[in-house]
Amino acid sequence: MNDQDEKNRYEMVKNEINFHNYRYHVLDNPLISDLEYDRLLVELRQIEARHPDWIEPDSPSQRTGAVVSEKFTKLAHPHPILSLANAFSTDEIRSWMERVGKLNSRVTKTDFVVEPKIDGLTVVLHYENGLFVRGATRGDGEIGEDITSNLRTIRSLPLRIPVDRNAPKVPRRLVVRGEAFIYLKDFDILNKRLEEAGEKTYLNPRNTAAGSLRQLDPALTAQRPLALLTYDVVDSDGEVPHTQWELLKYLKALGFPVSDQVEYCPDIEAVIRSCVKRAENRDTLTFEVDGAVIKINDLDLADSLGFVGKDPRGAMAFKFPAREVTTRLNNIGVNVGRTGVLTPYAILEPVEIGGVIVKQATLHNFDFIAEKDVRIGDRVLLKRAGDVIPYVIGPVLDARNGEEKPFSPPEVCPTCHEPVEHFEGEVAWYCVNAACPAQLVRNMEHFVSRGAMDIAGCGIKIVEQLISAGLIKDAADLYALKKEDLLSLEGFADKKAENILDAIKASKAQPLQRLITAIGIRGVGEVLATDLAKHYTDLYALAGASLAQLMTIEGVGPNIAEAIVDWFSRVRNQQLIQKLKMYGVWPVNEISQPANAGVSPLNGMTFVITGTLPVFSRDEARDLIQAHGGKVTDSVSKKTTYLVLGENPGSKLDKAHDLGIPILDENGLRNLIGERS
Ligand code: IVH
Repeated sequence: MNDQDEKNRYEMVKNEINFHNYRYHVLDNPLISDLEYDRLLVELRQIEARHPDWIEPDSPSQRTGAVVSEKFTKLAHPHPILSLANAFSTDEIRSWMERVGKLNSRVTKTDFVVEPKIDGLTVVLHYENGLFVRGATRGDGEIGEDITSNLRTIRSLPLRIPVDRNAPKVPRRLVVRGEAFIYLKDFDILNKRLEEAGEKTYLNPRNTAAGSLRQLDPALTAQRPLALLTYDVVDSDGEVPHTQWELLKYLKALGFPVSDQVEYCPDIEAVIRSCVKRAENRDTLTFEVDGAVIKINDLDLADSLGFVGKDPRGAMAFKFPAREVTTRLNNIGVNVGRTGVLTPYAILEPVEIGGVIVKQATLHNFDFIAEKDVRIGDRVLLKRAGDVIPYVIGPVLDARNGEEKPFSPPEVCPTCHEPVEHFEGEVAWYCVNAACPAQLVRNMEHFVSRGAMDIAGCGIKIVEQLISAGLIKDAADLYALKKEDLLSLEGFADKKAENILDAIKASKAQPLQRLITAIGIRGVGEVLATDLAKHYTDLYALAGASLAQLMTIEGVGPNIAEAIVDWFSRVRNQQLIQKLKMYGVWPVNEISQPANAGVSPLNGMTFVITGTLPVFSRDEARDLIQAHGGKVTDSVSKKTTYLVLGENPGSKLDKAHDLGIPILDENGLRNLIGERS
């Protein structure tokens, strides 16, 4: 190949790559496979290695450029980069219309374009003869920072326009405005990857996009999944469309990414409908928006209306309620839940989000505080989305002044001051003191609730009254209450006291599954309680169940089995069930199918165990088999009924194969017991 042929080939490969990049990143509709695309890239690099002098700024190899020294240089905008006035209600949209209608009556008959207000950063992109030459941040609206190298890394940014040969002719000078941001999906992937690598995760897409654009090393920017959507022509020396709707089409035709969420609205009523719908559907978008932008379609008419400060009168932002705000973390409090779980919560400098004043927010768990390095005194980013309770996303590290104080989980329960415990494999810390007043309130609340003993009229207020008057120390004490006890409490008259006593008495007739739910074993809800009640005649029978027996019940894994055994092993709980029995709160399940007693589903069978089982230890598996009437021996013989096989088995497996002994895994063993029970 001579030089000219090679040069032609080079231009072709370059254009192909840029075109396929556009198909992939702008149109989301690739024509070739990744492999074919990579091949073209390899070819391009090979030619460029031979002819470095051919490389121009529109080469795809130039998307990652050189490190910028210390600071970005300033770049003046050809025209001021304006912002928008805000409307927070549809009424404000109407009054904007009235105002500008008075300035120019043509406005009353105008049409509009409504666009998503992308929650990202304004970028200003300069093209000369179709080539992307410079790009800047908004800065103060007059002068921005030159972030050309970083912008080049955005794959949907065209390095040369038009990308498609059939596109309109490009003016010699064209300056386009758009928004750089990160799609929610890409943001999640980025954070997952960071989390897996054990690195700090980012707070939200917007901050990440902002930080990425201001990286001095474009190689770092290139690792962030920045995206672009364009919506305006700031300057040009050629003919560009005079309506916003046509302008968006024009940008798209040149190869710029344009949102597909833009909408033409013939009148202001259609605009309002669009805005209301957008606010409702906010969560269905693939990127974050903070509102909708309403633009008078006729751009000359819009321009003729002039500005108020930096806000053009011809457009308006309809703002959705903010979902994220920052505020000061004044302190960290700790709640004690029913099962004794300690949960940290943020005590905040009160702040408004979406029309609600927020003073507290969840901090999830203590691991979260440690991972995010949340400190008392930090400015924290707070989110309240839809129905979700407000939660802290993380600290704003740049806002630290050194006076923030690190936090460590309490060593004792904040309510009863007993030492707290941490169980292997769980993030939660627990107060294991069953007499802890905080737990008692929550426990009682649960005990009397609808799905449990269903004691009507006995809400949290009354439970708290009873506890603070010292009338109850556990749930069983409810059944010892007398009318005079209740009458001694504030707000109780004859009728009210009688009603509650009746409801308490009536609850004695609740079936066993209700009582199992009510005692509040960690992980045992209504569904599981119903299953347990099928296997055990009463609470004593359940109390006597071993880990292995419990695990033969569907839905009971090792953690729950352990929680059940642990619950019944505690003296206070044993006292509770004795008292319940004494007061006649003792449902007995007639149709129970005992998991152990009486039946011996494995009677006459001989088992050999080999290898490591996924859940049971060897001893537990042996206990389980024996509890169901089976025998366990050490070596395989003709008498072996089943070989129970785990991981890394020994020679017993070969022997079983030789003798044709059937093989079971741990699940198979459980099923066998289940089927035969
Ligand atoms: S038009 C005069 N359109 O919102 C033109 N702005 O508060 C003014 N924004 O700084 C901008 N999406 O960064 C326009 N579709 C959109 C937008 C949009 C996001 C941002 C832009 C601007 C801010 C105004």
